[in-house]
Amino acid sequence: MADTQQPVWVLNGPNLDRLGTREPDVYGTVDYPTLVEQVVEAASGLGFTAEVRQTNDEAELIGWLHEAADARIPVVLNPAAFTHYSYAIRDACAMLTAPLIEVHLSNPLAREEFRHTSVVGGVASGSIAGFGIESYRLALRALRGMIPTP
Ligand code: DQA
Repeated sequence: MADTQQPVWVLNGPNLDRLGTREPDVYGTVDYPTLVEQVVEAASGLGFTAEVRQTNDEAELIGWLHEAADARIPVVLNPAAFTHYSYAIRDACAMLTAPLIEVHLSNPLAREEFRHTSVVGGVASGSIAGFGIESYRLALRALRGMIPTP
């Protein structure tokens, strides 16, 4: 493995900090700290150093996307409910300068109709949904294929 690991940011939107107790029939019983641990571990195995963040605040998420754009850092993003209506998040994603993978734990297309629209998907390199935490691992694998190893 190369000495310099490629940074990747894994950004999570509102209510994902409540994983474990939040609608376990939909999102499973794995809690957010465990998700972070597993994502960091999976990333490391692929030669990435993952910074995993979560916010319930749209403005904060936009700020992180601006930072990622400026630093040319690839992003795995679970925009959570912002997926379905936040043009501000979409516009910030459109400014990214490295690949963006949209992820979802659940499969929004198999759920309520308002979840069938992603305003973010159109500016992402690709989207992965419906595999629980595995969605994040698949996203990291996809990124690995898109970014040359240093
Ligand atoms: C979600 C799906 C969204 O519809 C929902 O608002 C979330 C989580 C997912 O990971 O399955 O908060 O993004």
